[in-house]
Amino acid sequence: MNPQQKTALITGANRGIGHETAKQLKQQGLNVILSARDPQKGQTTATELGVDFLQMDVSDENSITTAAKEYKTRFGHSLDILINNAGIFPDQEKSILETTAELINQALLTNTTGPILATQHFLPLLENSKEGARIINISSKLGQLSTMIDTAPAYSISKTALNAVTRQLAAALKHKNISVNAVSPGWVRTDMGGQNADLSVQEGADSITWLATQAPQSLTGTFVRDREQIEW
Ligand SMILES: NC(=O)c1ccc[n+]([C@@H]2O[C@H](COP(=O)([O-])OP(=O)(O)OC[C@H]3O[C@@H](n4cnc5c(N)ncnc54)[C@H](OP(=O)(O)O)[C@@H]3O)[C@@H](O)[C@H]2O)c1
Repeated sequence: MNPQQKTALITGANRGIGHETAKQLKQQGLNVILSARDPQKGQTTATELGVDFLQMDVSDENSITTAAKEYKTRFGHSLDILINNAGIFPDQEKSILETTAELINQALLTNTTGPILATQHFLPLLENSKEGARIINISSKLGQLSTMIDTAPAYSISKTALNAVTRQLAAALKHKNISVNAVSPGWVRTDMGGQNADLSVQEGADSITWLATQAPQSLTGTFVRDREQIEW
């Protein structure tokens, strides 16, 4: 860890967009802490990228509590950037007329409650960021209310709710100089997006790394795609 550099923590970063974000931020010289729920996959990926690893399952509050404690012991009492990236797509092609309480609860637990709890437990560290901290929630076009259609209801609803979480946190943290924004990365070629998706992981991670490093600190409470604000 270089004390002159900012530190970023990325959840669910052992593969996909989170992994690419870790790579890009490391290339830009930041201290990167790659987090994953599976300790073996996470440690292996972190070692490959030359970054630190922190085990955390965002669907389990005990795991988040333990991770925040471990972070303080290993990396100190300050965090500059929290990227809530971990996500699941549990819908199994069930429509809003067929979906189950279980699928909706699963999606909400990881995609919506996870970012709230991660923010709460890492907030004391974010408050110690010298130049103002940044929280970036990885949302989705499928969570955009203005273009909502009847597809993937559990996932889509959980991402709309994550957008609401973004607005709530942005309002609650504005006076602490902590910015909170949501990102729609576009349709990206990952295990989740599939191989027919439009964008490479490099393109998908671009707005995330922009928000983490270059966007004005005053930008908060917005939904971003391709480095521009979009409608909710
Ligand atoms: N790909 C797209 O087209 C697209 C579009 C819009 C938004 N997004 C969003 O972008 C983010 C990353 O997606 P992706 O395409 O990179 O997906 P992905 O390839 O399926 O990767 C998802 C990552 O999240 C992790 N994860 C899932 N549940 C977790 C939990 N409870 N705790 C910690 N980590 C957990 C997974 O870990 P394991 O390896 O252990 O499963 C994996 O590392 C997600 O929030 C997704 O909703 C993706």
